[in-house]
Amino acid sequence: MRRLDQLLANLGYCSRREARAWVEGGRVTVAGRVADDPGQKAEPAAVRVDGEPLDHPEGLLLLVHKPAGLVCSHDEREGPNVYSLLPLRWRQRNPQVTSIGRLDKETTGLLLLTDQSDLVHRLTSPKHKVAKIYRATVDRDLTPDLVPLFAAGTLQLDDEKEPCRPAELRIVAPCEAELVLVEGKYHQVRRMFAATGRTVLALHRTQFGHLTLGELAPGQWRELELNTF
Ligand code: URA
Repeated sequence: MRRLDQLLANLGYCSRREARAWVEGGRVTVAGRVADDPGQKAEPAAVRVDGEPLDHPEGLLLLVHKPAGLVCSHDEREGPNVYSLLPLRWRQRNPQVTSIGRLDKETTGLLLLTDQSDLVHRLTSPKHKVAKIYRATVDRDLTPDLVPLFAAGTLQLDDEKEPCRPAELRIVAPCEAELVLVEGKYHQVRRMFAATGRTVLALHRTQFGHLTLGELAPGQWRELELNTF
């Protein structure tokens, strides 16, 4: 049970003050009866605003095709962000919609967004070995010796205490490879190739666990069930 004014404000409809006015104006019903007390507690599923059920009161989990040029940070100073792709109401939710792990500004591909902090923690925890698949284009030919090097679980990146966990490298063209990671260190793909003297020119995430982008175009998103993981 949640207070009506708090519920509407937290789901991004309006400010708490506006929510009070909405209730007092008769726009909100609980189990079919017009509410008149903004402090009334209600089950979110029983609440309607202007006759409509609440917008995802249980939470959001979204799969986004991240285009290049957007950051995953909420800090406006870092430039345009992936949240700008979402409807305003979802951007105003509290808890905030945030990314599950991050992709760099110039990285494209599959990104998950949610307002469920337990999911963020669970899926970014090193204990939870969900596989992520990247396609990288590098500036120099890839040689077969990189496959056992990445698979060994001994590759040490600067400023990291632990070596990278074993990663599967599949060379698909002279300068292009797929890399399967079960962890997410900062700039990990770029730093792993940098450790072999290569610069990543383009990076795209194709898969997160069992999820793929399918037909989703850059900049588009689709909803996932909260119990997907
Ligand atoms: N590794 C990187 O270097 N960048 C990303 O965006 C994701 C993984």
